[in-house]
Amino acid sequence: MVSQAVVNAFAVVGALLSLPLLLRFLGFIWLYFLRPTMIHRYVHGGYPYAVITGATDGIGRAVASELYTRGFNLILHGRNEKKMQKVVQELLHLRDPSAQGVVRYFIADATKPGHDFEKMLEPFKDLNITLVIHNVGGSNGVQPEKLDERPEEYIHNLVRWNALFPLLLTRVLLPQLRRSAKHGPVLVQFVGSLASDISPPRLPIYAASKRFLEALVRGLDNDEQNFGPPTGVRFTYLAVGPVHTASMPQKPGLNTPTSEQFARAIVQRTGCGRRRVAPYAMHAVSTFVVGGLGERTVDYYTAQEMKTLIDVYAKGE
Ligand SMILES: NC(=O)c1ccc[n+]([C@@H]2O[C@H](COP(=O)([O-])OP(=O)(O)OC[C@H]3O[C@@H](n4cnc5c(N)ncnc54)[C@H](OP(=O)(O)O)[C@@H]3O)[C@@H](O)[C@H]2O)c1
Repeated sequence: MVSQAVVNAFAVVGALLSLPLLLRFLGFIWLYFLRPTMIHRYVHGGYPYAVITGATDGIGRAVASELYTRGFNLILHGRNEKKMQKVVQELLHLRDPSAQGVVRYFIADATKPGHDFEKMLEPFKDLNITLVIHNVGGSNGVQPEKLDERPEEYIHNLVRWNALFPLLLTRVLLPQLRRSAKHGPVLVQFVGSLASDISPPRLPIYAASKRFLEALVRGLDNDEQNFGPPTGVRFTYLAVGPVHTASMPQKPGLNTPTSEQFARAIVQRTGCGRRRVAPYAMHAVSTFVVGGLGERTVDYYTAQEMKTLIDVYAKGE
């Protein structure tokens, strides 16, 4: 017969082993259901600006609306000036004319080489920028070609679009962000993808470009916080699952929010203090489940899912 002492020892070990899980669960409840938004902490220093890249559609466009209605002035980025001007006019109507803010923009194709980032940001260099959302990026859908079937230029474009453009923009913005951080918190958020956690077939370059951003966030945050006096500029990687936008044909559902729902989730989690966060609760659940399944199972089911997605994109559904 097993003695009571052994049973008790197992109970203690069991309780200790489940403690991290319990803490994680409590952290989840706090972050997604109880924690009040901290977005107002970034509205400081007179005339605060948020920079949003890829802001003429999808997630970026929806985040721009959210931030504008919450008191930020905006510096938007896009690649199509006509579309941008329309977006700016629509945004300006969102606020009461008595509380009118400023919406400025710059145009640049993020896939193209040779941008002069200093010149691009020159018109905004004296502004008080307190929040940056590096949203521009994408995968060009999901196509059937493997790496060796892609032209080299395609690969350069994808890496510039997702990784180098936000990196080089951040390089030029940093001194200005440090200035703004003298009177309040400043945050730079990079829109990542859950694809970077699982590297699905046919998306290795996209997944790797997003993973680059995650490493960048940690390194930059360490640079600003842990090497010399902290500057107050912080960095966050946003782990993003499916969101219904023009470039993502999956229908909205429990795991696939609309751009507007997702933008509200980003704003709600802004300033939560984590270097990596899934703004949308169901995406955090997916990450947890995927983490528990083991790589072989995840890879098998991801491959099946990718076959379906390639068909969906091919049919343009
Ligand atoms: N949607 C998802 O399911 C999902 C999942 C994981 C991660 N993400 C990430 O979320 C971000 C936004 O995705 P989204 O679905 O909202 O995309 P989207 O609907 O296609 O919108 C992207 C925005 O970026 C602009 N843009 C696209 N290519 C550009 C380029 N080469 N140069 C400059 N601007 C460009 C678009 O301009 P136009 O208006 O001119 O097209 C638009 O304003 C991306 O970084 C993506 O990787 C999305």
